[in-house]
Amino acid sequence: MSGPIPKPTIAAIHPYVAGKSKIAGIAQPIKLSSNENALGFSPAARAAFLASADTLHRYADSYAANLRDAIAAKHGLDPARIIFGEGSDEIFSLACQAYLNPGEAMLQPHYAFAAWAIAGRAAGAEVISAPERDYTADVDALLAALTPKTRVVFISNPASPTGTRIPFSEIKRLHAGLPENVLLVLDGAYAEYAEGEADYEPGLSLAADASNVLATRTFSKIHGLAALRIGWAYAAAPIADALNRIRLPFNVPTASQAAAIAALGDADFVETSRIHARTGREKLARHLTQLGLIAIPPASNFVTVRTPPGFAFDAPALERALAERGILVRGLSNYAMPDALRITIGTDGEMEALYRALSDILTR
Ligand SMILES: Cc1ncc(COP(=O)(O)O)c(C=O)c1O
Repeated sequence: MSGPIPKPTIAAIHPYVAGKSKIAGIAQPIKLSSNENALGFSPAARAAFLASADTLHRYADSYAANLRDAIAAKHGLDPARIIFGEGSDEIFSLACQAYLNPGEAMLQPHYAFAAWAIAGRAAGAEVISAPERDYTADVDALLAALTPKTRVVFISNPASPTGTRIPFSEIKRLHAGLPENVLLVLDGAYAEYAEGEADYEPGLSLAADASNVLATRTFSKIHGLAALRIGWAYAAAPIADALNRIRLPFNVPTASQAAAIAALGDADFVETSRIHARTGREKLARHLTQLGLIAIPPASNFVTVRTPPGFAFDAPALERALAERGILVRGLSNYAMPDALRITIGTDGEMEALYRALSDILTR
């Protein structure tokens, strides 16, 4: 039977594989597979979410005026230049739809967030990956991989799936090396975990000044509102205008807008989450190293760890052994890292369970 044929680049897409959340026979597994916030979310966000239940019959504010103002005030931004998405994932798609023609190219570091390539290929573009150095984005390699066809460059800082980050001076050097007609998307999903550290800036300042930078952020990670799908971005007015032309009108529901405003106002929750992730990632990296594994230096709320050649367990076997003990981590075979696992920092209790399971598996 013949039917409609999708664009050739659609066939090249590997569908997104989400972190596992279920283990057969285990009612409540410990989920360390999706880089969610171990501490949950602000009680103020819960209250705001529940309070919005009375207006389910009304369309959301398409302009998200209150949330827009809250974000602008918090970060010192021009509210008119903020773009909202159903998660930052949607903003990646909007950017690719708006700036990539079929046959043009999107460029990313080798170990890249999967949603970028999906967005690039859906727009009909070719996806080019530049080599990294020590699992860290390499600006020279990215610049060397530019071609006249390159129209969009993606980078996350801190990065996923590797967990590493580069100094802001390197992001600025990358930007300086790009032609003005190339859009640089700075994915700041994990920005809050690195904020305040030496040589780190999330990139909003670059988006404020440059004509070709789109800095994206999310409420899914440190604010713990992954289920509500709220992403936002900042860019020059013409970019905001282009993305807003193709954005679906009611892409951020009322409850999500309300919860996000409340979450932004709970600075204590954000700070506690940041400290929990920072302390937890250092402890986990040390622990994994003591067990003979190779922990990639972490910069956000997870640790990516490699099994050395000849190690008693390869990464998939270690992932299975942890799952047998009720713990879900993220295997990275589909992220070009078949020897690696990505482990989110959980609650203190979950981390103790992880340490016990690892000792049980690796030291018997
Ligand atoms: C690098 C990176 N960017 C973006 C996202 C997705 O964020 P959102 O939930 O806002 O779509 C993730 C989620 O895992 C991520 O790891």
